[in-house]
Amino acid sequence: MKYNQLGKTGVLVSELCLGTMTFGGKGYWQAIGELPQNEVNQLVKTAIDNKINFIDTANAYSEGLSEIMLGKAITELGINRQQVVIATKLRIRMGEGANQVGLSRLHIADSVNDSLTRLNMSHIDLLYIHGVDPLTPLEETMRGLEDVVRAGKVRYIGISNHPAWMVVKANSYAEKMGWTKFCALQNYYTIASRDIEREIVPMAISEGLGIMPWSPLAGGFLSGKYTRHNEKAGDSRRDNFDFPPINKEKAYDIIDVMTEIGNEHQASAARVALAWMLSKQYVTSIIVGAKRNDQLLDNIAATQLVLTAEQLEKLDKISALSPEYPGWMVERQATGRMPE
Ligand SMILES: NC(=O)c1ccc[n+]([C@@H]2O[C@H](COP(=O)([O-])OP(=O)(O)OC[C@H]3O[C@@H](n4cnc5c(N)ncnc54)[C@H](OP(=O)(O)O)[C@@H]3O)[C@@H](O)[C@H]2O)c1
Repeated sequence: MKYNQLGKTGVLVSELCLGTMTFGGKGYWQAIGELPQNEVNQLVKTAIDNKINFIDTANAYSEGLSEIMLGKAITELGINRQQVVIATKLRIRMGEGANQVGLSRLHIADSVNDSLTRLNMSHIDLLYIHGVDPLTPLEETMRGLEDVVRAGKVRYIGISNHPAWMVVKANSYAEKMGWTKFCALQNYYTIASRDIEREIVPMAISEGLGIMPWSPLAGGFLSGKYTRHNEKAGDSRRDNFDFPPINKEKAYDIIDVMTEIGNEHQASAARVALAWMLSKQYVTSIIVGAKRNDQLLDNIAATQLVLTAEQLEKLDKISALSPEYPGWMVERQATGRMPE
């Protein structure tokens, strides 16, 4: 397991991060996974035993149950709190009240207090805002985040599911005010959905932000169990829960190539998909999900899979994005401009 710098901070996080969306299975999250505490403990133990030091949850996962079960697992397994980097998020509705949602200063304060209670922890290492709130001005959100950092409840902040321009605008404002800036991004990124390479990746490189891809197997679709000839895998969430969006025809072409390359290494397509992503320098830590321990072990094994330059080229080519303006014009005008 390699460790990478969390943005420009002095914190090191493992190249894989354990996702916790399968913990509990309450409400909307029931379709994703319904792991009971003993299986949660097993997944957390497997992660820690294999040197993963980074765990990702959210206030809303299983309506708060994911945070509760994660906190319990850490206590019951006797894990030293200082050996793990715990990330959580806020933005999704947490109750019926008009203000139990969003990115207002009010809700940031309430949500962080509630997360700390559920996690049974004194602080959150990394707090992400979970998506755009069209109502709250970015300036208010940055002030709310600065408050919880100054109060010692949160150590670093990150931003998820935002367009590139908003990240830069928010960080520029925080810099102007002398406040805490986002150090990490959390975005949907898979070998079959490379959209972030257009605007978000170049922005992250330019700004020194860490990139934490979520749903790296598109919720299991890219694990190898779904093919053009086998659209149902049985007891798998993608059978009935069609999220996140993916161009299935394109994905099937990519799965064919990943399976072929996997066979050359006696490895699953899932492992190939993750190894491809690990080969990208700009990726800090991939947030892997698992419903079973063997899946997590398979995903961890991706850190040992070294794909050849030829295999990586094949994967890059089959999964390439279609040209889109202004990207193609930027590329065209760069020709001959940079020194060799
Ligand atoms: N910021 C955000 O908006 C956001 C959104 C979504 C997720 N996340 C974070 O990202 C984490 C990961 O997301 P995800 O669960 O969607 O990740 P994923 O890796 O795309 O999907 C995980 C699912 O795929 C299947 N799977 C995983 N490994 C497998 C393997 N080796 N072989 C076969 N099947 C395998 C399992 O489901 P089945 O057995 O049911 O097929 C597993 O639950 C979440 O836990 C959460 O922390 C963040």
